[in-house]
Amino acid sequence: MLIRTHNCGQLRDSDVGATVRLNGWVNSYRGHGTGLVFIDLRDRYGLTQLVFDGEDLPKDVLDAADHLRNEDVLAIEGTVRLRTGGENPKLITGKIEIEVSKLEVLNKTANPPFLPDDIAKLPNEELRLTYRYIDLRRPKMQQIMQTRHKLSKVTRDYFHENGFLEVDTPILYKSTPEGAREFLVPSRNVAGGWYALPQSPQLFKQILMVAGCDRYIQLCRCFRDEDPRADRQAEFTQVDLEMSFVRREHVMDMMEGYVRRLWKEMLNVDVPPVQRMTYREAMERFGIDRPDTRYGLEITDISELAGRSDVGFFKEALAKGTDRPKFNSRRGVVKAIRVPGGSEKLSRKITDGYNEFVRSFGAGGCAVVKMTAAGQLETGIAKLLESVKDELIKTLGLQAGDTVLFVADVYSTATKSLGELRQKVARDMGVVPKPGIEGGPWNFLIVIDFPMFERDKESGRWMAMHHPFTAPRDDQAQAFVDADVNDEVTIESIVSAGYDIVLNGQEIAGGSIRIHDGKAQSKVFQLLGLTPEQAKEKFSFLLEALSYGAPPHGGIAFGLDRLVMNFIGTDNIRDVIAFPKTQIGADLMTRAPSMVSDEQLKELYVKSTFTPPAKA
Ligand code: AMO
Repeated sequence: MLIRTHNCGQLRDSDVGATVRLNGWVNSYRGHGTGLVFIDLRDRYGLTQLVFDGEDLPKDVLDAADHLRNEDVLAIEGTVRLRTGGENPKLITGKIEIEVSKLEVLNKTANPPFLPDDIAKLPNEELRLTYRYIDLRRPKMQQIMQTRHKLSKVTRDYFHENGFLEVDTPILYKSTPEGAREFLVPSRNVAGGWYALPQSPQLFKQILMVAGCDRYIQLCRCFRDEDPRADRQAEFTQVDLEMSFVRREHVMDMMEGYVRRLWKEMLNVDVPPVQRMTYREAMERFGIDRPDTRYGLEITDISELAGRSDVGFFKEALAKGTDRPKFNSRRGVVKAIRVPGGSEKLSRKITDGYNEFVRSFGAGGCAVVKMTAAGQLETGIAKLLESVKDELIKTLGLQAGDTVLFVADVYSTATKSLGELRQKVARDMGVVPKPGIEGGPWNFLIVIDFPMFERDKESGRWMAMHHPFTAPRDDQAQAFVDADVNDEVTIESIVSAGYDIVLNGQEIAGGSIRIHDGKAQSKVFQLLGLTPEQAKEKFSFLLEALSYGAPPHGGIAFGLDRLVMNFIGTDNIRDVIAFPKTQIGADLMTRAPSMVSDEQLKELYVKSTFTPPAKA
């Protein structure tokens, strides 16, 4: 085989006259049958033009060149010369071509289902995933893999420089519910025993702190058996970290430094100091704990004023619920969003649709009024607002051409539905910039002071808002230890030492200071409804480790795939994973998941209850 001396993106006019060898794939051809064949040869590094000139070549070489097709694999030898047919400024090798003297066809291709061409219209995603090796040949996909590689390298460099140790933690792990459903793996050696794949290395990294590791990092694979979405995969990668002897400020500062370093090295962007916002403020202003602050459309609580209007359903909503000091999810409220210029851009049909939209989040509906050029309110409930009109205009800062959207309900429903509606309105108004790559804006936010617990809507049970290993905020630690587990008001008001990093409305990282005291950890398990026996069964290794000199510690994990999505400017997570899974968690190329034999199952002590549908 003619082993390459250069790659296909390397040769320049300074190489003219050199004898070189190249290896690669036929990207395109022209001139078959004319005695002068042009081939663009492609590899990961670029394209180089080859010329097969029949006048100087043995017949068999020209014949072979005449029969080349897209995606055949070649080795050639030839001489570099300046392009005879004019330069191609779009290619880095566009000044030269290779006059071929030897050709070896290393492999002929079958007729490919599509060509790895970024210019032509992409085939559907199913075909791309089935033949992923062809899809990955596209320059765009090659660029994504390189971006991902660079991100991993910058990450390792930064954390290495800051004293972090990379440690691998097990993939075969124990079933310890952390939130999502787990993937289970039966054991052959321990009859009836099961491993679970880790949702994250959370407890291993904490135990590494007990083990004196001090600063840990891992670029690790996590597994969650949940339905994939645009930015979620069942199998994904985290940049996972943990630090000992720290307060939350130390972790957040270290992470801010990481984000700044990443954006500088990946995009040459200087990230300004990252704003920190409490959960409460995020919910009040944006109705969501991961606000997109690239546009306004903020939510305003107008309960007091609404109570003095003549709108019946405002009053009904306000009469609901009891008053609670903090994170009160059951108090009746009226909230509104001012949409500047909404009268023109949001048609009646669109705003009518908002009713249905907020209903899907449990609200009764969405009332709409518009501000006319004459300073009057019109449509819907406008007349019933007459008595408070001036105050409303002042409170919301209304101007001619604005639309106002109202939801009246209990706090949690009104907040959540308006939070979701805000994002929809932003899309309808066309004020959401395309994913970052076009140069930002890059609106980072660290959200802090989450409630430690929230009630699960369906079961009514307490749930940990981050995860059960999250500590209360320093100043709340004693209140938590002292709190009676039945004291709903106190439990609801405990603030955690958790933090999320949000970028343009997407959660890119989440973490917390951890509980390093066994008693406090047991209390969390109790609150979450685990009996002491269950807690011991599931977590005795953690409780034991905490009892043997656990240092105060905390950490965070970034979604690596989500970071790459931002650098590439895509909102589809499958674009940034070499071999992703579909919506039902299938790998279309290997056809996983697949059936296994009865013998395999027997060896694993597993009996399947699945019966294949009868063949028609
Ligand atoms: P959390 O569950 O918040 O925290 O996950 C951390 C980050 O991982 C990313 N992420 C995902 N990315 C793609 N697909 C998914 N299914 C998916 N789920 C999460 C998100 C998220 O912010 N052990 C804790 C971290 C800690 O406390 O240190 C954890 O896993 O970007």
